[in-house]
Amino acid sequence: MTQNNNGVELNLLVINGPNLNLLGTREPDVYGSRTLKDIEEEITKEFSSLNIEWFQSNNEGEIINKIQSCMNSHVDALIINPAAFSHTSVGILDSLKAITIPKLEVHISNTNQREEFRKNKVTAMGSDYLMEGFGPDVYRLAVSNIKFILENKK
Ligand code: DQA
Repeated sequence: MTQNNNGVELNLLVINGPNLNLLGTREPDVYGSRTLKDIEEEITKEFSSLNIEWFQSNNEGEIINKIQSCMNSHVDALIINPAAFSHTSVGILDSLKAITIPKLEVHISNTNQREEFRKNKVTAMGSDYLMEGFGPDVYRLAVSNIKFILENKK
């Protein structure tokens, strides 16, 4: 079991939605040149005191099932980039609302500076926190922020 500086074990789940498995090659001018595996490895190394589970799916139902799995589990907080489903999925919104752990929605790009349809994030209402526009570094910043929130809550 790993423990943070306060001696408390923290378990995070990071969910990535559709097409984020293509990071590194997909529109690198928007999403950067690092792959999801690069990002996961960097963060796992940097935050070695945390237990971080990484999950990616292109399937809406699988994402909903994974969110539901946080109910009555050891997961202390959820970081989620619902990707394109952010703009459409009431199902993901409802599953986020059903779980009570701290939730942080992240986006790599600044969706407010892009096409009009990206400004409406249906899922964001289901999270406690929102971060976007930091590029791929949003993930490490998100882990750092959620660690701060959890450590100051426990
Ligand atoms: C994204 C923004 C979404 O609009 C887009 O569909 C994505 C990625 C982001 O991280 O910037 O796939 O969530």
